[in-house]
Amino acid sequence: MKKHFTRRDFFFKTAGIGTGAFLFPGLSTSLIQERQRGSIPVIVTSHFNETGKNAVEAGWEILQSGGSAVDAVEKAANIIEIDPEDNTVGYGGLPNEKGVVQLDASFMDGKTYSAGAVACLENIKTPSSVARLVMERTDHVLLTGEGALEFARAWGFKEENLLTDKARKIWLRWKEELSQSDDWGVPEHLQDIEKKESYWRDFPDIEHWYGTTNVLAIDRNGNIAGCTTTSGLSFKLNGRVGDSPIIGAGLYVDNEVGAAGATGRGEDVIKSCASYFIVLRMKEGRTPQQACEDALQMITDRYKKVNPGFFPSEKFIAINKFGETGCATMKGSRIPQMSVRNTKGFSRIDGTILYPGK
Ligand code: GLY
Repeated sequence: MKKHFTRRDFFFKTAGIGTGAFLFPGLSTSLIQERQRGSIPVIVTSHFNETGKNAVEAGWEILQSGGSAVDAVEKAANIIEIDPEDNTVGYGGLPNEKGVVQLDASFMDGKTYSAGAVACLENIKTPSSVARLVMERTDHVLLTGEGALEFARAWGFKEENLLTDKARKIWLRWKEELSQSDDWGVPEHLQDIEKKESYWRDFPDIEHWYGTTNVLAIDRNGNIAGCTTTSGLSFKLNGRVGDSPIIGAGLYVDNEVGAAGATGRGEDVIKSCASYFIVLRMKEGRTPQQACEDALQMITDRYKKVNPGFFPSEKFIAINKFGETGCATMKGSRIPQMSVRNTKGFSRIDGTILYPGK
């Protein structure tokens, strides 16, 4: 388990390493020791529930038998995408404002620097597999909407309704609660008698969810691959594209350094090129943990000039080429976690919260 430390500890720890670690890529003894704790092959995901465990275990089967990081990542991502209980990724994901599930995904191969992505893809349960094919079987990087669907159809993907009953009802509840000045919801003359809350009692509170998953892996040959896949911001405007399919924002992979992936408010991740930033930080000698925290700090430092009270809800995960891991989230009270599978077995590793009280 990594030690959880607060933002104050973060600054202390950073100061302890010295600003030289930011400016010069030379490694301190503690950093070298930390690196030795990593091992390869390894596969990780930002999903820390049972599905996340199943996903990395399935990817691990491929890695331990000598398979490629690309194959392991796709296998693991598919397991999360087809889970109907997950309302943030693939099948079962929450729809856009019109009630249509539109999926975003990206794939990157750190050996070849090839990348592929799809955005606003409808009716296909496994957008990560389509993104992989964009990467491997086209000279493009990003296909969107109808074009992405045509491409998936051409490759034989089956079209299916992605809107589960649970996701549809959450969307309907959101519609009913959206406005007092439309006609959704209980008739006006009954509003005082039959409160809406009684009808929706068993449903979760409605909030905008940005949930997403990242899967990153290193195979036996040291090749690194990654995928980020999502149903994106719940109830988003039709056609909205988040960070997940944007290479450098929701995902970046470099065999010479490592890989990083983002979940959370995609708009900030796009504007900060966060995954690329994290990989650059690791190249400069920062551990994956430090690099994830650096990216969060970079985002809030920018907003300080505009709205110092604004702390967007990002979570980053990263691995370096030595198999070390990092995980950090911007705010909240729940310690962020990631699922890790390597030769030591399966573990859920704690990350850090940069602004715990926010
Ligand atoms: N991070 C997922 C999204 O904003 O769409």
